[in-house]
Amino acid sequence: MRMPLIAGNWKMNGSLTLVERFGEAFAEAGLSPSVEVCLIPPFPYLAAAQRALGGTPVMLGAQTLNPQHGGAHTGEVSGGMLREFGVDYVLVGHSERRALYRESDDDVYDRLLAALTAELRPILCVGETLEERDAGRTRDVVLRQVGAVMARLEPAQRAAVTIAYEPVWAIGTGRTATPEQAQEVMSEIRAYQAGFDRSLAEGMRLLYGGSMNADNAAELLAQPDIDGGLVGGASLKVDDFLAICQSAG
Ligand code: 13P
Repeated sequence: MRMPLIAGNWKMNGSLTLVERFGEAFAEAGLSPSVEVCLIPPFPYLAAAQRALGGTPVMLGAQTLNPQHGGAHTGEVSGGMLREFGVDYVLVGHSERRALYRESDDDVYDRLLAALTAELRPILCVGETLEERDAGRTRDVVLRQVGAVMARLEPAQRAAVTIAYEPVWAIGTGRTATPEQAQEVMSEIRAYQAGFDRSLAEGMRLLYGGSMNADNAAELLAQPDIDGGLVGGASLKVDDFLAICQSAG
């Protein structure tokens, strides 16, 4: 069985106060051992989040990393630095980074490789735009994004990757993909992985992201190929995020 993972991507939101509030709420709530939870705050809050969540099973993630180990890269952060703050997961290829910071499939691959080298667990984000969906290109776009990375990895490296399917039109819009729409694409992603290795595909966790909230999480998570969620807006409200975590566990 695949252990569900609920990851809260704060994007460029949050505050030290919110970090403290999450620490207290998760310490009180006592999470089910049958769900993994990860909080992904902006870089400057990682140290405080490490402290605040120290007594809880909540893991830490980062929103991106630079492909290089270090050097003259003003403003950038390496995988090794993230490890020093207890970070386990790192997002790569989020659609906001692909669109706003022009990250190509090659950039995404380089970052994912750097994450693996630093012993971080990459969450590879993929998803089509509304235009691509309307043109009937969802499957092609998503499998291109998956293949551009996975086809270049060694088998052992593939096993360390989690994939998040986040349709761009569902992100921050309140327009969630229906469970059937999400399941359809995510079963294609798993089938693609099975082309490399069937047992790897069976064990690989696939997350859904895009306007997941406390009301729609259970229905999405009930789909056979949805093993968790990558939550944006609702991860900034502690009660909502806790409710989503509880509906997964
Ligand atoms: P929302 O949950 O706000 O739609 O964001 C999803 C997302 O982009 C998570 O990475």
